[in-house]
This record gives sequence, structure tokens and C-alpha cells, in this order.
Amino acid sequence: MNRRTTVLSATVALTAALALSGCSSDSSSGGASGADGKPELTVSGAFMPQPVMDMAGGFLTIKNAGGTADKLTSVTSPISDDVQIHETKNQKMQQVTSFDIPANGELDLERGGNHIMFMGLKTKPKQGDKVSIELHFEKADPIKVDLPVEAATHNPKQH
Ligand code: CU
Repeated sequence: MNRRTTVLSATVALTAALALSGCSSDSSSGGASGADGKPELTVSGAFMPQPVMDMAGGFLTIKNAGGTADKLTSVTSPISDDVQIHETKNQKMQQVTSFDIPANGELDLERGGNHIMFMGLKTKPKQGDKVSIELHFEKADPIKVDLPVEAATHNPKQH
């Protein structure tokens, strides 16, 4: 009983601290309007698991070395007229309008989490192929990436 109360109050204190720090960082970023620097984005670890149906997933990491946050807003590719960005919540995926790329941080698109989703594939790429895509951002210029097609079960985060 006593222990439980302690844990509960610690949680409340932590939540309050997070809410406070959220507030203060909001107000401190209000002054300078993007004068110091742009997002500096680099893409790594990109791949597409060989599709088993007429849709496919795409995975990659976008690093932002700049002091300004950005957003991934859309993806285009010659192999699909309907490339979406999806998040996974409670093991269900749903379309989102953008993903945040934090300043001096990164956006990870990985199996079981956020991902690119190619709907209605015009061609079905096979392992060893490359699929070209273009990433579009709120602030940074578009970036072209070739996704190597890997085995259907490929997952670099697993051992
Ligand atoms: Cu999806």
C-alpha cells in the first residue's frame, strides 16, 4: 500500500515536470524565426522488403544535423501513384499527413513502426532491384533515394 502510493506520486511529479518543460521550450523558440540555419537532412539504411502483394513498405532513417526541425510531408515513386506515410498504433497502421524530424535528431521508419506504404504497385520489384523514391519535406529540398529491395522478412534491427 505504502509502496504503491510512492510510485503513483512519482509518476504524477514526472508528468508535471514534462508538461512544464514542454511549455518553456515552446515559448523560448518563439523569438527567432528560423534565422539560424536550415534543416540538414541525410538518409541512411533505406530498404524495401520484397512485396508479397500489390503493396509494399519502405523503411529508412532521416537524420537532421541542423538546428531547425522539419517534417516529412510526402513520398513519390514511379512504381505507385499512391505512396502514403503510415504510423503503427496498437499494431494497426493508419495514414498520417506528416512525420516530425526533430532538430538535431532523427526520424526512424522501421518495421513495426512508422513506415512508407506503396499502394497499388504498378510493378512488383524483386530482391536485388532498386526502387527510386523522392522524399518531400516541409522546409528542406526534396531528396531522391534508391531503396534496395531485400528479402520479404528482412529486418536490420533484428538479430
Ligand atoms: Cu502501412
